[in-house]
Parts: sequence; C-alpha cells; structure tokens
Amino acid sequence: MNIDGKAYRTIWIDETGTLTVIDQHLLPHRFATARLESFEAVCAAIRDMLVRGAGLIGATAGYGMWLAACEAPCRDNASFDAFMLDAAARLRQTRPTASNLAWAVKRQLDALAQGASPAEKRRLARETADRIADEDAQACRRIGEHGKNLLEAIAARKGPGEPVRILTHCNAGWLAFVDYGSALAPVYAAHDAGLPVHVWVDETRPRNQGAGLTAWELARHGVPHTLIADNAGGHLMQHGLVDIVITGADRVTRRGDAANKIGTYLKALAAHDNGVPFYVALPSSTFDFSLSDGVAEIPIEQRGGEEVRTVLGKTPEGVLVPVQICPDETPAGNWAFDVTPNRLITGLISERGLCPASEEGVLSLYPEAGARA
Ligand code: MRU
Repeated sequence: MNIDGKAYRTIWIDETGTLTVIDQHLLPHRFATARLESFEAVCAAIRDMLVRGAGLIGATAGYGMWLAACEAPCRDNASFDAFMLDAAARLRQTRPTASNLAWAVKRQLDALAQGASPAEKRRLARETADRIADEDAQACRRIGEHGKNLLEAIAARKGPGEPVRILTHCNAGWLAFVDYGSALAPVYAAHDAGLPVHVWVDETRPRNQGAGLTAWELARHGVPHTLIADNAGGHLMQHGLVDIVITGADRVTRRGDAANKIGTYLKALAAHDNGVPFYVALPSSTFDFSLSDGVAEIPIEQRGGEEVRTVLGKTPEGVLVPVQICPDETPAGNWAFDVTPNRLITGLISERGLCPASEEGVLSLYPEAGARA
C-alpha cells in the first residue's frame, strides 16, 4: 500500500539486511518503522503487538525462525536442530489464537528438515520466510478480487452512485497482513475499480484497532468511512444502514467456525437478526483443519487487564499517554477473541474463492483437508 506516495509492506528486509516492520503501537498518530534485530526482538514484537493481525503475525514468525537460524550454533545438525525446536516452541507461545503463527513455524521446521547442514538450513529459512510473506500478500490480493464480486452484486441492486455500506470490526486491512488485507481487500479492490463504498469502522475496544488502524488505512487510501462506537452496529443494521458485514479471522475450523477479535460474535448475531449478510475473509493459512467445534476447541488469548482499564490517546501537545477509565481498585478481564459459529456466517472468502461456512463448503475449496482427516 502507498503511504505518502511510497509503496510499503508491513514487513521487509531493509538495505542493511535488517528485518523491519511498521510500528503499530504509534499509529494512527505517528508513522514510524522499527528494526527487529534478534529472535528475542521478534518474540517481543509479536507478544507486545508492535506487529499484530493474523497474517502479519505469521509472516513475522517466519522471519523470526530465520533470525533464530542465524543465531543457532552451527557446529553440527543436532545442536542446530535442538536450538530451532526450542525457538519454535517459544514463538508459538507468544500469541495462541491466530493459526498463522503455528502454521508459519511448522512450515519453517518442514523446510529446515530439508537442509543437509546448518548453513543450508539457514539459507532455506530465509527463502521460506520470504515465500511466506510473498504468498500472504498474493493471497490477500486474490481475496480482494473474489470479495469485490460480492460488493459489485450488492451495488447492482442499488441506485446509481449509492455506496455499498460495509461494516467491519477490528483491523483486517493491510496492516494485519503483509499487504492488501483480508476483510478490507474487497473494499480496496472495489474502491479502486470505481465502485462507491462506505465503511462503518467499529472502534474495537480494548486496543481500538478499528479507530487507530482501520480508520488510518482507509483515510490513507481515500476510502469514505465513519468511525462508530463498538455497540452501534446493531442499531445501524436495524435501520437498514449496513449492506454487508465483512470481518477477518484469526482461526477458522474445518466446519467454518471463526475466531476473530472480541465482539465479532455480537456483530454476527445482530447481522443474523437483521438479515444482513455476514462474511469472513481469510487466507488459507488461517484455517485450522484439525479443529471442528470452534467454541469448544479454539484457544482464546487472555491479555492483561490494563488494556481494558485504560485507553491510549494523544494529548493536545501531541504526546501519547494511557489514561485510566475506571476506579483504581476495579479489576478487568480481557478476552482478546471470540468465536462466531458457522450458522451465523453467510460465507467465507479465501484466495481460492467463496464457500459456505460448513464442512462441505470448506472441503469443496480444500479437498486436501478431507483427505488428511
Ligand atoms: O489482536 P490483533 O490486533 O492481532 O487481532 C486482529 C484481529 O482480530 C483481526 O481482525 C484478525 O487478525 C483477522 S485479520 C488478520
């Protein structure tokens, strides 16, 4: 995506060979990049959400495995492999819900197994990390094309010039991936093709990824949008102001249950009650075909209560400060994700196309998952 005329991805190797990311702690107030120079720095960046979003977490983990390979002892394969297994276990613990993290780590371990020596394994780790990042961007671009068809079909039922009104939750735009995004990719594709669109942006407490990141992305791209309070979506749907809901996902089971940012389930319930189509956009790397019942089986990350007890904002002097919003003694619970059962999901949009959120639907796009089961 372009920032002030310059094309950016969310993660890249800079001219000095250093892993570099966009610092998502500072957005939307400041655009800055951060260098991740060690395996430890990568783990901290994922855990502390300097980088976040399922696809970007996966790509960062891929590069984390490369940095681990650079730091691993190279006297023999046994000590190199033991070091890498330990690194893989530590990376997997950084954030538990998004499939993309474990998927990228496994892909790196599979690649390393093909190397005959530590030097060759190190080279393979770099190639694999680059491939994971490139494939993430390409998958998202294709999600955009498939999703654009959906938005065009809605536009065809409207008067000329009337915008298609999309509601989204959290940030599933290009900042959550290497490029393009998942839920926002169809919006960008439609907007770029000249289709009038308007996005309702949920603020997405506690970390406000909607207010801070989605609104920032859409503004940079010139897409009309309006920030709404997290609880406004149901009201808008009751009054016919939402044509379609599109969210991203952090993990989707073989029958199409979808874990996404906390609050997504409530939007799906409201959409169901009001006959508003509810779509989940995801690259293949977000599927977890080993799971079926998402509510029972998907691990839900619980984060520190301070994220709920405070909000981060900018003072009139331009300083970023956290401000407490509850009594000193009030504790907070912080479940980061929830699961939307497949019965509330109209369809899934992946780089392979659209399918119903059901085991038959998922297997029609991913027959290899059936063979594996
Ligand atoms: O906690 P985050 O910011 O990593 O959560 C992001 C979301 O929930 C997104 O909606 C999700 O990752 C799906 S799109 C990558």
